[in-house]
Amino acid sequence: MLLLGLNAYHADSAACVIKDGSLVAAAEEERFRRIKHWAGLPTQAIDYCLREAGASLGEVDHIAMNRKPGANNWRRLGFVFTHLPDPRLIWQKIRNMRSAASVAEALEQRYNLQLKAQVHHVEHHLAHLASAFLLSGFEEAACLSVDGFGDFASTAMGWGGRGRIRIDQRVYFPHSLGIFYSAITQLIGFPHYGDEYKVMGLAPYGEPRYLEEMRELVRLQPDGTFRLNLTYFRHHTDNVSYSWNDCAPEVGLLYTDALESLLGPARPPKEPLEQKHKDIAHSAQVIYEEAFFALLRALHRRYPCNHLALSGGCAMNSVANGRVYLQTPFKKMYLPAAAGDAGGAIGAAAMVAAKLGGTLQPPKDSIRTSRRAVEDGDSNIVDRKRQPIGQSTIREARFAITKSSSLQPSSFFLYPSPFPPYLGPQFSDQEIWKTLEPQRTRLSALSCQLSEVNDDATLCRRTAHAVADGKVVGWFQGRMEWGPRALGNRSILCDPRRADMKEILNAKIKRRESFRPFAPSILRECVADWFEQDDDVPYMMKVFQIREQKRSLLPAVCHVDGSGRLQTVHRELNPLYHQLISAFYLLTSVPLLLNTSFNENEPVVCRPEEALACFLRTRMDVLVMGNFFLERDAQLATANEASGTEGHASACPGRSSDGNHAGAIPAKAPAIAWKL
Ligand SMILES: [Fe+2]
Repeated sequence: MLLLGLNAYHADSAACVIKDGSLVAAAEEERFRRIKHWAGLPTQAIDYCLREAGASLGEVDHIAMNRKPGANNWRRLGFVFTHLPDPRLIWQKIRNMRSAASVAEALEQRYNLQLKAQVHHVEHHLAHLASAFLLSGFEEAACLSVDGFGDFASTAMGWGGRGRIRIDQRVYFPHSLGIFYSAITQLIGFPHYGDEYKVMGLAPYGEPRYLEEMRELVRLQPDGTFRLNLTYFRHHTDNVSYSWNDCAPEVGLLYTDALESLLGPARPPKEPLEQKHKDIAHSAQVIYEEAFFALLRALHRRYPCNHLALSGGCAMNSVANGRVYLQTPFKKMYLPAAAGDAGGAIGAAAMVAAKLGGTLQPPKDSIRTSRRAVEDGDSNIVDRKRQPIGQSTIREARFAITKSSSLQPSSFFLYPSPFPPYLGPQFSDQEIWKTLEPQRTRLSALSCQLSEVNDDATLCRRTAHAVADGKVVGWFQGRMEWGPRALGNRSILCDPRRADMKEILNAKIKRRESFRPFAPSILRECVADWFEQDDDVPYMMKVFQIREQKRSLLPAVCHVDGSGRLQTVHRELNPLYHQLISAFYLLTSVPLLLNTSFNENEPVVCRPEEALACFLRTRMDVLVMGNFFLERDAQLATANEASGTEGHASACPGRSSDGNHAGAIPAKAPAIAWKL
């Protein structure tokens, strides 16, 4: 059975394919179109997923879409009669609903074929909840979706058990925590779709000086839900423009003049950030958390269990997520890798698969198995032969406990650990060489050296040395990540111990706002030693406090409030990345790397060409793609710049000395020995 899941005509359009119970592929359209958060019909993601499945669209049996036009229609009608919104707003919403309803026709037109597939429309929040609960491995869990809007609701709560989800409470349009946070984001001067994370990063620099004003905006209700004070918002009555089709998504101004009267004038985006903007950000985060935890406590009162499945756009608030265990009775939480709307593609597909009586498991090749690491334990930091770190037995015992207490397989989901997020395209070494080979002259002119390293242990050791030497390393391996975070397959890696690393990274590549923190990837076995909470965070969706005595060791990834948005690196999920961090650990006694997404103000790179282009147009020091190790010789480049010459004839890539004809692409490039 072939099942196509879609998030279409909305931001972060995406597709996934489930083939005979296996989730063979999933990807966001933005990675192919190279436009952030691209909205529309995700044809390139569909094409990729179907290629992975070895099938065509005409062979698809079921299409699942994370929208259900017509859902909550009585509520919609009631709202129109009571609030009398701008007719243009109503028309805009109807048009978008029509697009979602006619996805089959749009596909038939675009692909010029007649579909045999049955189309299933899954309510937006049900799809969000399914993307969390059905992949969590929990037998039972309380479920919460917190969002901007979808199918006329912003929030949904319920219960999941044995492959089914029941929603028993919703917060309807126009009340929304997502809209509240987005309006504050716009007021502080971050105008783009998806900028909310900037407010979250800015918040620790501020003080809670605007709490009273924020409580005027968001009013908590006795039942644990909330209401917006609509005086301050215009998304429900005015003609706020929303662009969701064939474009980068855009959302018009969400707040009224009353909000500026309450909090002060909006900051024009190019004006400097002042302390009051940081205080507003801090206060907004506090109020968001108050409302979020009130929802969770109410949910737990109704369903007093240990497990929570959490999703929706607001579940990207990793700071609030990191406090769930501290502020609520929940003991174990599952957040999907794509908690936002892209995740609805998998959620809708999983929901339909469950309804049809199927099961779900990850594809067999979602993990790039290290050639030697797993078999001989080379990447295992508790290797008894070496015993390089000390206290290995303690760490081993802790890991064993962690594993035994981790998620148990449910009747639907057949994988006994966090779901592998590596569901995107991958490229062989030969394909990577096809990208590098035509650039030999240019790379040579830039004083680059290229070598191939054919065993993973050496590749990891060499990369770890480069990181420890202060180099900025592009790391491109295996299948691209699903979801917004780079999780060690499309990452830029740096030394977390260097106080100047953030400035170096921003100067060389990222050029992003100086207040935004960089995140650490840490070996799962070492989390308790370095963070105040010990939990699985495989998709970088929680912020924990770094232990006080460790903070000075990690200045590049420690935020101003002592926190870090960690990714726990599990050997069973990504053995090569685990091996790399282990090599860095052996070298430095620090089991973490700074991990930021492989991009420069663009979607995360997908293909080798994009990775190489990013390397070439920035001042990245090293690019490791598959087994290829490409390094800029900084000294030589500087000397060449000074002398006005373009490069060094023998510097790169060294293939001609091996006797290969220029332009020939060898089936297997010769290995170049490397001694550390
Ligand atoms: Fe959503």
